Amino acid sequence: MYDNNPTLMGIRKEIDETKQGEVFFKETANDGGRHFYIESYGCQMNFSDSEIVASILSEVGFSPTRNMENADLILVNTCSIREKAEDTVRQRLRIFDKIKRNRPGTMVGVLGCMAERLKSKFLEEEKLVDLVIGPDAYRDLPNLVATAEDGEKGVNVFLSREETYADISPLRLDSNGVTAFISIMRGCDNMCSFCVVPYTRGRERSRDCYSIVAEAKDLFENGYREVTLLGQNVDSYKWQHPDTGEVVNFAQLLEMTALVHPDLRIRFSTSHPKDITDEVLHTMARHENICKYIHLPVQSGNSRVLNLMNRTYDREWYMNRVEAIYRIMPECAISSDIITGFCTETEEEHKDTLSMIEWANYSMSYMFFYSERPGTLAARKYEDDIPQDVKKRRLSEIVRLQNQVSFKHNQADIGKTFKVLIEGDSKKSDQHFKGRNTQNKMIVFPKVNGLKPGDYVRVKVNDATSATLIGEVSSEV
Ligand code: 5AD
Ligand code: SF4
Repeated sequence: MYDNNPTLMGIRKEIDETKQGEVFFKETANDGGRHFYIESYGCQMNFSDSEIVASILSEVGFSPTRNMENADLILVNTCSIREKAEDTVRQRLRIFDKIKRNRPGTMVGVLGCMAERLKSKFLEEEKLVDLVIGPDAYRDLPNLVATAEDGEKGVNVFLSREETYADISPLRLDSNGVTAFISIMRGCDNMCSFCVVPYTRGRERSRDCYSIVAEAKDLFENGYREVTLLGQNVDSYKWQHPDTGEVVNFAQLLEMTALVHPDLRIRFSTSHPKDITDEVLHTMARHENICKYIHLPVQSGNSRVLNLMNRTYDREWYMNRVEAIYRIMPECAISSDIITGFCTETEEEHKDTLSMIEWANYSMSYMFFYSERPGTLAARKYEDDIPQDVKKRRLSEIVRLQNQVSFKHNQADIGKTFKVLIEGDSKKSDQHFKGRNTQNKMIVFPKVNGLKPGDYVRVKVNDATSATLIGEVSSEV
């Protein structure tokens, strides 16, 4: 079981580290060519990166396969954010190694955040992999594969200050055909003391806004109805035109993508409380198709702990941002990431996090206990001094409270009617559709003739759990 996070609601792939990574599953016919198999772990950014990798590989004649036994190239796109994620990848590598032994010539590659951190370990100590490729080196994949085919190790973990893959059109293989991710920036310049991302993904850089809008248009023309703009800290998006000097900020980018088509929904993730501006909030309020949902990780509800975490805001600042959101968009839902048991956190400080969950009225949260990451500021400066059993107890208190708050949040929707974008069949029954409302709440409802994924429909909510709304198609406007 995922020990960091026992009862997550609204499971996001990002943090569900128990299961096997997601696998692309649309296969092309077996054409006798070479095949790659890719598993992805970690954040949505990693999933988006795997689509870039798939695109680069398809250019050089590789087609995707969902069957690792048939693959000439097995790739695992890795996450370093918590120790558990790394452990899962190590286990997968042992399984891939068995396949390699049964099928000599099969190449195995490690992509993403663990590549930079552990390249020498993978290549020298463990000898499990042929390729190690960091998140900014995917263009080099074809060369590195050729190197590995010649029996050498293919390694490139160079972190770039420019690479945004702006010109690469991602291969949307693992798709419902309705919702897609668009990566708008890479890296992170914040130095949250617990976080390994600035070391594994490098400096922050923003992608050309026109290539983002073109990608959104292309998706819309291909039937997609929702895009999520992705970055580690989207609110600090800033792109400058190299010729004209024109500067585009995140609020402006949001507006540009919202104008692609009123039927294209726009979401974004992740927002940093220090950077989210009223301009962004007013832009959201102005456009019906920018979803009224903000993922605004608080991490801790206590100002001293936030200072140790180097989050650069305090409790009051965070509360001010939440107040601004509810003032400008009363119907907006807010979700959070929470770390409990950070170095030196006291019981009183833990209670501040609990009270924040209630005060901010989060629709949901991703909750973790602190896991020290080598090389981070916290690992160098502070002792990881909260005993494991205390961390677990605090986490279970947080999860329990968030469950109650989510339940109330959802119960308050009973009787309301929402515009829902149909994403596909519900997990439990092919007689039901699932879709989301603007607040990012999943709604399940019985199918009605004539409706299909990609359609918008009004759904009246009749019931709710802490994770899902249950409803029926409504004729009310
Ligand atoms: N320990 C526990 N949780 C962490 N996160 C990031 N680093 C750590 C860590 N060392 C969490 C944060 C972040 C989310 C993506 O992962 O809450 O927002
Ligand atoms: Fe890590 Fe903080 Fe950057 Fe998020 S904003 S990726 S938590 S350093």
